[in-house]
Amino acid sequence: MKNIILIGFMGVGKGSVAREVAKNSSYMTIDTDDLIESMENKKVKEIFGDDSEEYFRALEKKVSLWLEGSVKNTLISTGGGFYKQKNLKKIGLVVLLDSPFDEIIKRIKKHPNAEKKLKKRPLLSDLKAAKKLYDLRRPEYLKLSDIVIDVTKKSASDCSKELLKKVKKHA
Ligand code: S3P
Repeated sequence: MKNIILIGFMGVGKGSVAREVAKNSSYMTIDTDDLIESMENKKVKEIFGDDSEEYFRALEKKVSLWLEGSVKNTLISTGGGFYKQKNLKKIGLVVLLDSPFDEIIKRIKKHPNAEKKLKKRPLLSDLKAAKKLYDLRRPEYLKLSDIVIDVTKKSASDCSKELLKKVKKHA
């Protein structure tokens, strides 16, 4: 079993899909932001604010090297900017969760914890800038991915089923 590395824009549902896959398969799941938060004993938002985005990206690099060398048989969900790590394809099979920008924002706003979800993501504080970032990143996400899952209007459970089916086919 190769690692699966879930990429995609902020708010697309990487964490929810990863949890659903872990519930319904033998995969264990870890999240790059969670690893960074436990390393630093700080929330991502605080790392951006107290330190800098550059510092956060250096931590992502450290995590990427550890994943490549030490992690196997695992479903890894990532922060939206983690795809920039040069060894991404060496870590595992890259699966993109894809959806149009407006749908992602609609999805976040519909969530019962919408405010918290928006607040914890410094790069979503300005929606115009976030849309620019989305437009810049989407072609890069597509280029890197082995499997694409369109998550628009689908539940995490349906996405997880689709993911497991496509991964099996890919093997
Ligand atoms: C980021 C996405 C965030 C988090 C950080 C930066 C990004 O993770 O890693 O705020 O650059 O897109 P989510 O994609 O889980 O929101």
